[in-house]
Amino acid sequence: KHLNMDEQIQKVQQYLNNDKIVYYINFGGLYFENFHVPELLSVCSRNSIQIQIVEPYFAPILFFISNDLTQELLSQICNQCTQVMYYGQVASISNKIDDEPHPKCKQLIDNFYSEPLTFSMQSNIIGDVFQHETKLHHLSQIQQKSGFIAPKANLSNPQSHLQLIYDLQSDPTIFIFGFRIASTEKPMRKFINDFALPKRKFLGPTSMDNELAMIMCNLAQIKAGDFVYDPFCGTCSILVAATSVGAQCYGGDFDIKILRGKDTTYVDSFNQYKLPIPDLNWQDISKPAIYKKNFFDAIICDPPYMIRAGSRKSSQGKNDKFAQDTEVQTAKELYLQLVKLASQLLRVGGRAVFWLAVPLGDFDESDLIQCEGMKIEWFPLQKLSSKYGRRLICYLKQKEEVGECRYMKEILCFDKIRELVGLE
Ligand SMILES: C[S@@+](CC[C@H](N)C(=O)[O-])C[C@H]1O[C@@H](n2cnc3c(N)ncnc32)[C@H](O)[C@@H]1O
Repeated sequence: KHLNMDEQIQKVQQYLNNDKIVYYINFGGLYFENFHVPELLSVCSRNSIQIQIVEPYFAPILFFISNDLTQELLSQICNQCTQVMYYGQVASISNKIDDEPHPKCKQLIDNFYSEPLTFSMQSNIIGDVFQHETKLHHLSQIQQKSGFIAPKANLSNPQSHLQLIYDLQSDPTIFIFGFRIASTEKPMRKFINDFALPKRKFLGPTSMDNELAMIMCNLAQIKAGDFVYDPFCGTCSILVAATSVGAQCYGGDFDIKILRGKDTTYVDSFNQYKLPIPDLNWQDISKPAIYKKNFFDAIICDPPYMIRAGSRKSSQGKNDKFAQDTEVQTAKELYLQLVKLASQLLRVGGRAVFWLAVPLGDFDESDLIQCEGMKIEWFPLQKLSSKYGRRLICYLKQKEEVGECRYMKEILCFDKIRELVGLE
């Protein structure tokens, strides 16, 4: 991480030298760090906005340039990302607080403040605390050095914010002076707070965290009116997120007990948020109840990670038509069935997004099922322990008639995970 930070600063400076507008996003921390870029780029793609990230990216501050962006569009994309905290435009960047501001700083400020506005100036410190006096001292220094003549200060309700960000976690520390455009507003914050699992009416041991469920929906690039299918729906936590963005949802699971619920059911979770109830089927993925080819906009799911027995029996005994056992499947077969199903049911341009348990260490596309016409777009890692984690796999269906789905390797991540957890 430390070696290239100077390189990153230099690149941002070069863009400023060349009169490019450089934007920054603070993702608010290292939490879900590996999902920041995939989520942002997926959200941009859904909004038909092109951005170019200044590489290398070191969380939590990401820099990018774009030709198509206005402040409104920037707010639109940032408000759709789960992890963005605030964002703005860079006026100057350096690795020493005493450095002169970038030569373009004054000009940028003048352009930004073409009309007299009320403003506030604040500092944000990442990774440490600073004395208030020190912050004030730095702020007044940068204000003087940049030749910024304050229009009219208004700290409680300013029309614009100037911001001095210190990223003390990075080595070397970076100092960014910029115009804070906004922090993420209600819709996403509201989803994250109101839809948090502890408040959910119907939950199970493997219900998906609501932020991750929304990251999955964003990687799948779903929008209102899309058809979304979760063939391992369980308590429907992924479908709650998909329905909340206006998708029409379908689900399936082979565990009749989870589909029926007990004191509460999945219906309660949807009623809780006044969302339409999805259409669920009792089914084994190997015999899917829904089979409409080239139809779904997205298949989003969290398959079981290990060898699983057949479906659990219903409590209503032999007379229950749901009582039969389904086949025993290995994770290897199950993933193959999933990718095959996705390659058939997705429309061209549709996406399959699902988790895969993996040992930590080397991993590349050759560890994943390959299928001509199904492009692997992303596979970011979420670490779950010092030995293993899970990757969020995203396939894009590129043509109607796809090739055969197959594994490329003999030893698969499932086998390695089984070894790690002590299974034969
Ligand atoms: C990791 S959980 C998914 C949890 C779900 N995302 C939720 O929010 O509750 C995997 C689910 O897949 C179901 N399942 C396992 N094997 C299956 C199969 N062969 N066909 C259909 N469902 C299966 C399990 O019953 C379980 O509910």
